Amino acid sequence: MKLFVYHTPELVPAEGKAACAIAIDVLRATTTIATALAAGAEAVQAFSDLDELMEVSEEWAAEKRLRAGERGGAKVTGYDLGNSPLDCTPELMQGKRLFISTTNGTRCLERIQGAAAVLTAALVNRQAVVRYLLNHQPETVWIVGSGWEGSFSLEDTVCAGAIAHSLMQESDLDHLAGNDEVAGAVALYTQWNDRLLELLHHASHGKRLLHLDGEDDLKYCAQVDVLDILPMQQTSGVLMNHG
Ligand code: MLT
Repeated sequence: MKLFVYHTPELVPAEGKAACAIAIDVLRATTTIATALAAGAEAVQAFSDLDELMEVSEEWAAEKRLRAGERGGAKVTGYDLGNSPLDCTPELMQGKRLFISTTNGTRCLERIQGAAAVLTAALVNRQAVVRYLLNHQPETVWIVGSGWEGSFSLEDTVCAGAIAHSLMQESDLDHLAGNDEVAGAVALYTQWNDRLLELLHHASHGKRLLHLDGEDDLKYCAQVDVLDILPMQQTSGVLMNHG
């Protein structure tokens, strides 16, 4: 197994395909996706385009769907939800499909959706992702941070490092690393692993969310290995828990 870490979707190679590609958006899309599935959502269907989300979700029975729309950290008017994982309660999610579009996370997912296996990861479900990789040993793994509108995000790369660090219990860095970004991500994680919430406070999107009253979201998203959920793409853009 060779890991390649890409800090943003734009850095993913245009050519070639991974055996497994993993989208990360710790703040907050992939944390929300794992939480929605843990709360009993039947599936999460991701869109980069809001109009397309509306069109596709319209074909779904109203009582069986929820629409989540976020731009710039805020809820889009007319949607049931924004992108806070704390809104994903079992009462709301049970048996429903969550149709979601966010600024960067759903765009990241779209960028990798041609891979043989597509997963989403966040700190909250890191170990479920690691377990899948150890059990299936895909030959090439792309771990892709969503970043923010084309730039690097601390929280996504620290999560990539948390995944790689856990895999290093079984294999050493030289065997695992397909690019230099892997060592960089592991270094970021080992520097901050006991202060992840503090790191999220330093992150530019963490600051943006704090201005939008998102302190509780940051606390939630900074937790590690609290959800045994593995969101895996079933058909294009549709994620279900791979039990
Ligand atoms: C994104 O996709 O950029 C994020 O999930 C933004 C957010 O925090 O809602």
